[in-house]
Amino acid sequence: MKTLDRYFVAAAFIVLLSACGGGGKSRIEQIKEQSKMEVADPYENWKQFHGVGPVEKFSLPADIDQQLVTNGREIFESKCTACHKVEKKFIGPAPKGILSRRNPAWVMNMILAPDKMVKEDPIAKKLLQEFNGSPMANQNLTEDEARAVLEYFRTLN
Ligand code: HEC
Repeated sequence: MKTLDRYFVAAAFIVLLSACGGGGKSRIEQIKEQSKMEVADPYENWKQFHGVGPVEKFSLPADIDQQLVTNGREIFESKCTACHKVEKKFIGPAPKGILSRRNPAWVMNMILAPDKMVKEDPIAKKLLQEFNGSPMANQNLTEDEARAVLEYFRTLN
């Protein structure tokens, strides 16, 4: 009789414990909800992304350098227009207005290291999905050439 009592108390205790632990949402549900809150849209939060590649975050000087613009336009027309039209989405996005949706360093990294960008940068990853996984080809520009193209892009508003 005594042993039976003890079993009964132990069993009741276990039932009580599991009832407390199982209350509310399961741990997995809680984790799922947390991660939904943490994954914000990278397009909307573009200001915090400077890209991954050779170029560190930097600020552009206030004045536009016309000589650089001319060089940049020439480079763009010879190496980029196979896939990019200034005003219209083509094989790739239109660069018009790009500096009001991407950081200057991000743009240069995208030109200089598109392969790395689509693997590691949240915006570039999303962009690649939007363009059905057809990636931007590395045109092997030097950093100076990419900087010139960036200056040209500044004039496309
Ligand atoms: C073979 C086609 C192709 C060529 C050539 C090409 N691109 Fe792209 N580019 C793309 C595609 C496709 C995307 C979007 C998908 C992705 O990110 O991979 C893109 C994306 C970009 C972006 C990001 C645009 C945005 O809205 O965020 C920039 C900047 C860019 N390209 C610049 C250039 C420049 C500058 C050149 C020339 C030096 C160039 N591209 C040459 C296909 C190309």
